[in-house]
Amino acid sequence: MTKQPVKISPSVLTADFWNLGRSIAQLEEAGADLLHLDVMDGLFVPNISFGLPVIAALKKHTAIPFDVHLMIEKPHRYLERFRDAGADLLGFHLEAGSPVEETLRSIRALGMKSCLTIKPATPAQGVFPYLPFCDMVLVMSVEPGFGGQSFLPGSLSKIKAIREEANRQNLPLDIEVDGGINLETAPLAVQAGANVLVTGNVLFSAPDMKARLKELREITAR
Ligand code: DX5
Ligand code: ZN
Repeated sequence: MTKQPVKISPSVLTADFWNLGRSIAQLEEAGADLLHLDVMDGLFVPNISFGLPVIAALKKHTAIPFDVHLMIEKPHRYLERFRDAGADLLGFHLEAGSPVEETLRSIRALGMKSCLTIKPATPAQGVFPYLPFCDMVLVMSVEPGFGGQSFLPGSLSKIKAIREEANRQNLPLDIEVDGGINLETAPLAVQAGANVLVTGNVLFSAPDMKARLKELREITAR
């Protein structure tokens, strides 16, 4: 298994949006590696979160790279707009109705890192043909749509299968896991081969986000 330091990508979905700027400043001070931004259109998932203007507004005030997770139908229509808003890494779902290889290539051509995402019911093998065009694969460990859900243990074998295939293809792939990551599930995901952890509720429910982030780093150090 490739040894890579674990990166933490806090999701602000369960933040208090009145204090969004303040929360992001705290996450930056705590040393978050990425900022995970969940964009939902009410069609691909049964929820609506935030979109382009919010991302563009945040971009002006933080240096943390933006890890944008699109949960929208036909995401290929919006790649350039998300790049212009500030996405550094742009992820979309295999199941979202866009031409997969072409969309991954376009994301890279626009100067962003590309990420292909799969829902819990989609087998790991679904991403295998596209790995050469991915900087990252995101394995959803809850049904997309809401923060604060419980980790689905079936995601672990999917992470392992994708890591093995990436190693077989000799690709330095990032594997991100998203949903229900906490102090118990984080080490399991890392053991399975994930090296990027999305952390929503585990940080926003903590009395001290900075201390919690440090704790997550310590228990996942390899
Ligand atoms: C769910 C989102 C997740 C979510 C993670 O659709 O993609 O990023 O906010 O939140 P927690 O860590 O609370 O499960
Ligand atoms: Zn997400």
